[in-house]
Amino acid sequence: MKAVTTLKEEIVEAIPELNLIEDTDLRNKTIAVWEDAITKGGWTVKRIKEIPFSVHVENCQITFIEHVRTVCKMCVAIADVLKEAYGDRIKLNKDYLIAGALLADVGKLIEYEERNGEITRAGRGKHLRHPFVGVAMSYARNIPLEVLHIIATHSKEGDIMVRSSESVIFHHADFIDFDLVSKKRPF
Ligand SMILES: [Fe+2]
Repeated sequence: MKAVTTLKEEIVEAIPELNLIEDTDLRNKTIAVWEDAITKGGWTVKRIKEIPFSVHVENCQITFIEHVRTVCKMCVAIADVLKEAYGDRIKLNKDYLIAGALLADVGKLIEYEERNGEITRAGRGKHLRHPFVGVAMSYARNIPLEVLHIIATHSKEGDIMVRSSESVIFHHADFIDFDLVSKKRPF
């Protein structure tokens, strides 16, 4: 008889990049934050595979999960190029980078709500943007400070701070994805 799939298994299946986090403790904590966000936000894994990654993009064709996975993969590629080119002259912690990449937008599951089939930030999102909720949920699961920093500073909130190397990488990779799909190209 096939065992019932747990929420944790569903999450890892939907976001296989979680397996790239080498440290078992950090990987499990990162998955636990996703479990919390899905449960507290009232979502299912099936639904978060369908919703658009941003409510700020009209007729958004990129899903939330596609965005999370793609930006994470961009971060890994950037880190690998930098490592190959500069070796130890650039200090990077790949586990922190990957965990931060996978948690930066998890707070959208609280910031966003579904009302009559429409994804909106008109409720909880009016009070708190996802970097704040993401930090709160991750702090509650004892995610390391270096990863909390990436979540906190990844978007415009981080513009008044000095970002860590990992946060710089995530911030730019994130905005490559956001800018490409949010703005009309001139040609
Ligand atoms: Fe974000």
